[in-house]
Amino acid sequence: MKPFAIGAGCAALLLVGGAAAHAQDSTHARSLAATCFTCHGTDGRSVGNVPASLAGENKAYLLQQLNEFRTGKRPATIMHQHAKGYTPEQLELIAGYFSSVKPAPAARAPAARGGF
Ligand code: HEC
Repeated sequence: MKPFAIGAGCAALLLVGGAAAHAQDSTHARSLAATCFTCHGTDGRSVGNVPASLAGENKAYLLQQLNEFRTGKRPATIMHQHAKGYTPEQLELIAGYFSSVKPAPAARAPAARGGF
């Protein structure tokens, strides 16, 4: 047994383990956020910005909206129900996910896209 080889092997394992834990975190955040894609578009880029696109939005802003939906401070048709379904930690992960996503290129007027 060469002690050097064992040491290097352990270091490599630690590195791989760390990367996997990080990937799991962001995968977890994305899967929580995926329930929002139905209405807010894939990765929070909604079509025609209705309802609002969430991609690239400020995390503190998103979290505040979600908390206000949750407590009823901000009136909503639907969002108060969604917001209540998550723990504060989950809302934080979701807000963090959407703020980390790149926003869609500025939406163009339908005429500029040939009527679609
Ligand atoms: C069934 C459709 C639907 C789903 C699913 C949905 N939303 Fe919404 N969202 C809306 C609508 C509609 C509004 C406008 C407020 C209202 O009437 O409820 C809104 C508003 C918002 C706003 C406020 C945007 C702004 O800038 O004012 C945020 C933030 C938001 N949603 C986040 C989320 C998150 C996070 C999820 C997933 C946990 C989610 N939404 C899931 C329909 C939806």
